[in-house]
Amino acid sequence: MKKRKILATSALPYANGPIHIGHLVEYIQTDIWTRFQKQRGHQCYYLCADDTHGTPIMLRAESEGITPETLIKNIETQHRADFADFHVKFDHYHTTHSKENQELSRLIYQRLKTAGHISTRTITQAYDPEKEMFLSDRFIKGDCPKCGAQEQYGDGCEKCSATYAPTDLKNAISAISGAKPIEKESEHYFFELPHFTEMLQQWTTEHGNLQTEVSNKLAEWLQGGLKQWDISRDAPYFGFEIPDAPGKYFYVWLDAPIGYIASFKNFCTTENLNFDEFWGKDATTELYHFIGKDIIYFHALFWPAILTGANFRKPSAVFAHGFLTVNGEKMSKSRGTFITARTYLEHLNPEYLRYYFAAKLSNNLEDIDLNFEDFSQRVNSDLVGKVVNIASRCSGFIKKRFEGNLSEKCSEPELFQTFIDANESIANRYENREFSKAMREIMALADKANQYIDEKKPWIIAKEDHRSQELHETCSVGLNLFRLLMVYLKPVIPNLAIQAETFLNSEPQGWVDHLQPLLSHKIKAFKPLMTRVEADKIEKIIEASKANLEKVTTKVPTKQFEPIANEIEFEDFAKIDLRIAKIVNAESVKGADKLLQLTVDIGDGKLNVIAGIKSAYSPDDLKGKLTVVVANLKPRKMRFGVSEGMVLAAGMGGKDLWILSPDEGAVAGIRVK
Ligand code: 2FM
Ligand code: ZN
Repeated sequence: MKKRKILATSALPYANGPIHIGHLVEYIQTDIWTRFQKQRGHQCYYLCADDTHGTPIMLRAESEGITPETLIKNIETQHRADFADFHVKFDHYHTTHSKENQELSRLIYQRLKTAGHISTRTITQAYDPEKEMFLSDRFIKGDCPKCGAQEQYGDGCEKCSATYAPTDLKNAISAISGAKPIEKESEHYFFELPHFTEMLQQWTTEHGNLQTEVSNKLAEWLQGGLKQWDISRDAPYFGFEIPDAPGKYFYVWLDAPIGYIASFKNFCTTENLNFDEFWGKDATTELYHFIGKDIIYFHALFWPAILTGANFRKPSAVFAHGFLTVNGEKMSKSRGTFITARTYLEHLNPEYLRYYFAAKLSNNLEDIDLNFEDFSQRVNSDLVGKVVNIASRCSGFIKKRFEGNLSEKCSEPELFQTFIDANESIANRYENREFSKAMREIMALADKANQYIDEKKPWIIAKEDHRSQELHETCSVGLNLFRLLMVYLKPVIPNLAIQAETFLNSEPQGWVDHLQPLLSHKIKAFKPLMTRVEADKIEKIIEASKANLEKVTTKVPTKQFEPIANEIEFEDFAKIDLRIAKIVNAESVKGADKLLQLTVDIGDGKLNVIAGIKSAYSPDDLKGKLTVVVANLKPRKMRFGVSEGMVLAAGMGGKDLWILSPDEGAVAGIRVK
């Protein structure tokens, strides 16, 4: 068999939280697949990294009072431990916050720019005037414009599933500071995805690059016409600054997939590998990205286009999988089914879950369900009841009656050969990521082995002295069949496979094409290899997961009001010239649904003020009213005119907004001190 060169990746986990069982579907899937390739003797590398940039990480670090660098280091340590304990064996694990990734991101950007694939344009976006940062849709909250549900995010309603623009939200506020967002302009950098339409039309339909359902979905998107992709974000942002563009950063989704290359580059510092053979334009090495179905757009459109535009190779294929549901429903924190890798590990053997996922995984996009009853039943009946049981049924006799030696000859060469012959079909199932089918074939073989033992009844033969040889041969056949089953299951349950190798006193096992039975071979004492899933452990996991939720909610006490700002000097306050003002005119601003244009009399003159208070006041409510304004604010040019002052108002925004007014007797022009 020709030795293949393969590079495989899983999506880079985001470094703002722990790995949970939903993530594990993909890491276990890729791990099984890459272990299988290695077991077949191919040169295969499994690479990954933490995905470390972007606003959520920046804000989480801030709320924990640590730097983002410290946060991502801590999370990386946890991620690495979770993966290792689930036997997810990367050949290399890196971080996107690395010098390799910065260099590669810049290089790719420069190449795209030189080739004319980058353009700039000014866009208007929601801006948090208090926090002084732009707000992406998920950081704007308000009432759903369709069903009125409160506290919905700018990109869609969780109650009624409506999707809308954040500007459609009623009573919108910044989810970060609670301030009412304003609109602000900023120059953004765009990747010219439409330049790659033709290439993508071809690449997405080429046989083997994508699953058919993915390819069909992409055809729809391509038909609708591709759009420029906004790849920049304004400071403050945790990421890489764009060269020659101070205050502009690469959007996290630009540098994240580049992290695949960067991880490989860092791997090259210790391995003797040729970079271009793997990533150069004409690379022949196979490159596969395993991803969830939610990030197809990034991997099957942007990524091949970016790679092409920057003169790198394209992936050989992108493999998407479905989501994990638990007991038929979305993972839920309150139901205790949002289970972190660590919580699971505190109670159950990771190989149970590895096997269960393998038994459910196919090569299509269907969601897979973790049903706890089915989980226990399947692990207990397949792994413990069928596979491990073969070894426990046979090993005692070999140990007690034959000093641990297997028989000299194989009395069932045909049965043994049937097991060997199955290897090709099982290998094809693994290769095509049809793991559930592979598991079914392996369990059918396990049934055969058990059937053989049931028919032979060694426990009866053992009672008849003259049938000692038959007993010897029967149990030796049983153990040799067990050995083959463990070879086939090795990518899925590698730890159990190693324990089995130790027990059988055999070399680490590759694939089985030409495997001979172990004959006249001394084995070691049998120790129970795997115990049954105990139902109370599952209860404990669910309880612990509910408790995790309580910990989180009690750890962050929700304050009713925003914290008091940093202390200032009296002189700082004295700089603000506050005046009693009379609103002499108020009008709506054409094209702006949140603004009112006010003319206020401040005694010796008038100011023109644009105020975002339309959600709470109509122009008629205001005319003639006394209020307080900041009179010495430098005039600000806004989209709808110049604003020369600021009306003081309190509240969260929307209807909850109250302008200040003085007690009776005050007149326009008096200074407020
Ligand atoms: O969806 C996610 O969680 C991303 N962190 C995946 C990134 S994959 C790759 F592009 F880096
Ligand atoms: Zn709604």
